This record gives sequence, C-alpha cells and structure tokens, in this order.
Amino acid sequence: MALENTYVMVKPDGVARGLVGEVVGRLERKGLTLVNMRMLTIDAELAGRHYGEHTDKPFFPELVSFITSGPVVAMEWSGESAIAVARNLMGVTNPVDAAPGTIRGDLALVITENIVHGSDSSESAERELSIFFG
Ligand code: RTP
Ligand code: MG
Repeated sequence: MALENTYVMVKPDGVARGLVGEVVGRLERKGLTLVNMRMLTIDAELAGRHYGEHTDKPFFPELVSFITSGPVVAMEWSGESAIAVARNLMGVTNPVDAAPGTIRGDLALVITENIVHGSDSSESAERELSIFFG
C-alpha cells in the first residue's frame, strides 16, 4: 500500500465545456479523496514553471497559449497509488488513442485540448502541488 497525493487540473477546455463536475465525479467514484481545490487563471510565468519540462518542445508556445487561455481548476487528490490511478482514469495523452472509459477517451478528441492534467511521478506531484498549493 502506498498512500499518495497527486496534482490534477481541469484545463481551460474542460472548464469551458462544463466538465469540472464530470472529472471530479469520476475521481470521487473511484475512491480518491479531494483534499484541496481552487480556480485560477494561469499566467505565462506560472505556465512556464508548471510546464518547465516542456520548454524545449516544439509545441511549448501552443501549450502556454492554451493553458493561459481561460480559468483552470487546480486540485489535490489523495489515496492508494493516487498518482497512477488518476493518470489511468485520464487515459493516454492523445485522445485519439485514449481508451473508452477514460476521461480523454470518452470526452476529448484532439491532443491540444485533452481536458485534464495529472502528475506523472511522485517528484512531479510534489513539485506541482507546491506550485499551486504551496
Ligand atoms: P499532462 O502533462 O497535461 O497531464 O499530459 P501528459 O502528461 O499526458 O502529456 P505531456 O507529455 O506531459 O504533455 C503535456 C501536454 O502538452 C500537450 N501536447 N501537445 N501538440 C503536441 O504534439 C502535444 N504533445 C503534448 C498535451 O495537451 C499534453 O497534455
Ligand atoms: Mg505531463
């Protein structure tokens, strides 16, 4: 057993489409516990910190412009293996490939607008939780 805390965020497309409740409901029904939540609009400086691992990627400018385009819902979730469990509920990055039954598989179509973010490791979770809730 490994009790973990992870960072999950409903991105601007998810908020704009009214899918906050859908995302929260799926994580709740799985049995994860919501421990922290806030709505904010990410500015370019915060986007650069959050997506620091992607600064050299060709899609980085598009990623920053998207993530700053409207409000997001930042959340901390806890539970057994919460990092992997949240990622599994989200589905793989590209909604074209994401399995039915996952958030991206059921509700998204294109990689640039894939509704949710979830920490991909315990190091990322710690870093991202401190950025948004530190
Ligand atoms: P996230 O960080 O948002 O939870 O997604 P992820 O781990 O599944 O994917 P990651 O590799 O970290 O990529 C971060 C976000 O960048 C966008 N992306 N666009 N245009 C592209 O080729 C491309 N590749 C990635 C996606 O929105 C992805 O969620
Ligand atoms: Mg990622």
